[in-house]
Order: sequence, then structure tokens, then C-alpha cells
Amino acid sequence: MIPSVLPTYSRAPLRFAKGEGTWLVEEDGRRFLDLASGIAVNALGHAHPALVAALTEQAGKLWHTSNLYEIPQQQALADKLVDATFADTVFFTNSGTEACELAVKMARKYWYEKGQPDKTDIIAFTGSFHGRSAAGIAAAGSEKMTKGFGPLLPGFKHLGWGDLEALEAAIDDNTAAIIIEPVQGEGGIRPMPDADLQALRQLCDDKSVLLILDEVQCGVGRTGKLFAHEWAGVTPDIMMVAKGIGGGFPLGAVLATEEAASGMTAGSHGSTYGGNPLGCAVGCTVMDHVAAPEFLAEVNRKAGLLRQKLEGLVASHPDVFEEVRGVGLMLGLKTKCAPGDFVKAGHDALVATVPAADNVVRLLPPLIISDDEIAEAVTRLDAAATAIEKA
Ligand SMILES: Cc1ncc(COP(=O)(O)O)c(C=O)c1O
Repeated sequence: MIPSVLPTYSRAPLRFAKGEGTWLVEEDGRRFLDLASGIAVNALGHAHPALVAALTEQAGKLWHTSNLYEIPQQQALADKLVDATFADTVFFTNSGTEACELAVKMARKYWYEKGQPDKTDIIAFTGSFHGRSAAGIAAAGSEKMTKGFGPLLPGFKHLGWGDLEALEAAIDDNTAAIIIEPVQGEGGIRPMPDADLQALRQLCDDKSVLLILDEVQCGVGRTGKLFAHEWAGVTPDIMMVAKGIGGGFPLGAVLATEEAASGMTAGSHGSTYGGNPLGCAVGCTVMDHVAAPEFLAEVNRKAGLLRQKLEGLVASHPDVFEEVRGVGLMLGLKTKCAPGDFVKAGHDALVATVPAADNVVRLLPPLIISDDEIAEAVTRLDAAATAIEKA
């Protein structure tokens, strides 16, 4: 008999009842160190007092009005994002997938309004992940994501990850946009080198193609900059954001330049819940913390500490690990065993991690993790690796 919850996930047999900072407490009282953050979501950890206050204060006043009216919290969050980034304008969604839908629509509408309606193709890369909607799976293009769900949304081409030569050859008069994660998350923590991102930007400029960056997983302080593309010193035309921006409350956004957004006029897009007062009150508080230079400096310092300890861990378990890679607090351990087996061994050692493609285990701790917690995390990862060696 089918379970009452549609069985699209194979879940670990864990039921967390409470979260405190970097810790998750299981119903039976066991305390897990959280190096998953709900897959890069809980940027400020669990039950951060400022987020709890923002949410509960707003909950006592007003939950929902719809976008038929002005929403001051939405305006405030849009202003913060515009002030802190390349963007001139923001549309709020409830998830990364919805941000993908709008990013694709915005790119196509841009060229349509410019009198080039045949410019509809979007070029994406292997190993990418952009969500589970029709546009999201078509953008990813992998068999795993698309098999059985055809006919797929047309107009997507796929190239090898980082293959700029193939990209230059693939761009033609019908190319509307390129969509890429500056650091692939689900694909196995694969950062695009700064020089490649710079070359990609140049190519888009030279060939009149819009650049869509998917920073759903790598954005909002995760890499040590507010957004990952800042490391390369380039800016996109359109950017997808979600996960960390809500700190655990469902919130996403599409950020764009005035030019790229110029086709999106009244009535061209909408959302019942997008930009609601609860989500935006929380998002404002996340931004107030994460966008602060001293917060990002701490993320970079702690990332260096964690990285250094992980290099030692990899060196002391050559039969379990191949390498550590990633940027900031978006790190991956490439394993020689199945990543799922390591995640399971981690659960036994009371540490939560996330499997990814390319035999990688993701480490995505809350950005507020302390030095002591970093040391404890590596001790627990070491115990998991030792258990794998003995198995
Ligand atoms: C890079 C990237 N894009 C898009 C998504 C989809 O976001 P959501 O699950 O919020 O719809 C994800 C989710 O993991 C992601 O990592």
C-alpha cells in the first residue's frame, strides 16, 4: 500500500524535534551536529533569536494580503537586495524552483520584447540542478531528472560542465540565455573557476546572450561573499536566489538588472504567496545579519579553519576520501565509498551531512557554526570514516 506521504524520498530514520543553533535534537534526545542546514537553508542555524522574533512579531500582526496590495516587508527586502547587489529589481517566490521558472520566462520575454522572438534557447550544463518544475528539469536535462516526464519543455541545450569552447560554438542566433550555478551543489560541489566565469560573462556580452546565475544553493553568504559570483568580479543579468535567504522560511527571489527585467510588465507574472509579509520579515532579518561585512569575514575565517581540518581528515583516511573541495562553507568530501554510506555512518556518529552526485558528501553547516563546533564536527566525521574503514 502506498504510504500516506508520497514516497518520492528515501528518508533516514531520524525525527528531529528541536533545533538549537548548529544542533538538531532527535526525538529520543540524541544531539546531532548539523552540517546540512536543511540543504544550505538554515544560514543562521536553528531557532536564531532574531529570526524567531521577526517571524513571531509579524505573525501577530498580519500573515497574508496577496500582491494586490503593497507589502512593506517585501519592499524593504527588495530594497536591501538591490542595495547589496548588481540588481535593480526583485520578484519574490517561495522556492528556488519558482525562481527558475521566472528566470527562464524573463529571459525569453526580454528578447521577445526586443523584437527577436526566435531567441528562446537556454544553454545549461551537465550536472546542474535548477529545481523540479517543468523548466527546472528541462534545464538540468539529466536522465535521472527527466525520464518519464516528457514531453519536456523545449528550448534547452546541454553542454559539458565548464566547457567554454563548446559553449562558444553552441551559441547561435536563437540563444536567449545561459544558466549556470557558480558552484554546483547537487552536482557535487563543483566551483566554476573565476577565470571561467569571467570568460562566460564576456562571451554573453560579445554574443548578446543573457547570463542567468543560479545562486539558490551557493548564495546568501554560503561561499564567504554575499553571492558567489562576487569572487569572480562579474555580475549576471538575472539571478535566482532561495534557500538561505529565508533562513528556513520558504522564500526565494529573482534578482535582475533593469534591462533584463524590461519585458516583465504588469500582468506578465505573479504569485499568490510570493513576497508575503512573514517570509519577507524573516528575509530582512537574514539580510541584516548575513550581508554585514564582519559576518562574511567570520564565514571566511571559519571556512579556512574547517578546510584545514578537513584536509587533515582526508590525509588520515586515504581509503575513504579522495579530496576536499568547494568554497567557503560550501564544501564537499569526495569519497571512495558510496556517499550515502558515509552519510549513514555520519548519522551513527551524530553528525548530519548531505550526499551529492560525483561521489561527494556535502558539508553545508549553518554559517554561525563556532570554532569549537568545527572541531567537534571533524571529530565526528573522523569517527564516521573510521567506522567505514572497519566495515
Ligand atoms: C542550485 C539550485 N537551484 C534550484 C534549486 C531548487 O530549489 P527549491 O528546492 O527551493 O525549489 C535547488 C535546490 O536544491 C538548487 O540547489
